Amino acid sequence: MSRRPLIAGNWKMYKTGPEAVETATTLARLCSNVQDVEVMIAPSFLSLPLVAESIKGTNINLGAQNLYFEKQGAFTGEVSADMIKAAGAKYVIIGHSERRQYFGETDTSVCKKIKAAIEVGLKPILCIGESDTQRDDEKTFSVLDKQVSNGLKGYGSDELAQLVLAYEPVWAIGTGKTASIDQVRQVHLYLRSLLEKLFSKDLADQTRILYGGSVKPENAKDLMGIEDVDGALVGGASLDADKFINIIKYNN
Ligand code: PGA
Repeated sequence: MSRRPLIAGNWKMYKTGPEAVETATTLARLCSNVQDVEVMIAPSFLSLPLVAESIKGTNINLGAQNLYFEKQGAFTGEVSADMIKAAGAKYVIIGHSERRQYFGETDTSVCKKIKAAIEVGLKPILCIGESDTQRDDEKTFSVLDKQVSNGLKGYGSDELAQLVLAYEPVWAIGTGKTASIDQVRQVHLYLRSLLEKLFSKDLADQTRILYGGSVKPENAKDLMGIEDVDGALVGGASLDADKFINIIKYNN
């Protein structure tokens, strides 16, 4: 089964609205002839409608970095799946390690957020990954197993048809340290077999599994060349369109 790679940029808490529009516009121009990979950018909530407008008719997709799982209500400061969808997004990143680390995100809240995304037709990008101590203690696979099975608890293959998984070892995020080719290969293979065990062979075959953690133009080709790696979730190197395009065009 061939899976179209997804190269996704997570802009985190960077860029004001005008700055986001400027980068998105440049990127859209640079991406005009990109066909073999799907491109997505996730600016801040505030920039979503502005960026949506600036990339209209281009081959760039829009994503949000988080959502709140309730449909609506008195939840000051939160943003719902419907609001994100209405702003023009197609994807939503869920359970990023920074959310787990700094904002108390748990597998239980992640699971509810996945549901909220699916209900409105947003494609969830579920982030998972072990910390350095968990890796040192040889707990990588058990940590990932728990994050996937609890984060996706109660769903069937059909509901998860649009799911994207992102393996992001916490120790590789924003550190300049990339997981080795062997580490990535092992984990991605493990995750695909886990999807088969928990759901179905079809779901395992069709789900894109991205790698994230210090992806840059210099290592993109090697990482994307690994079997079972179906794209990348890129933080720092996605902020600059001229840099990000070299990751998107890793094959050229
Ligand atoms: P990084 O971030 O590319 O800056 O390491 C990746 C991420 O947080 O998704």
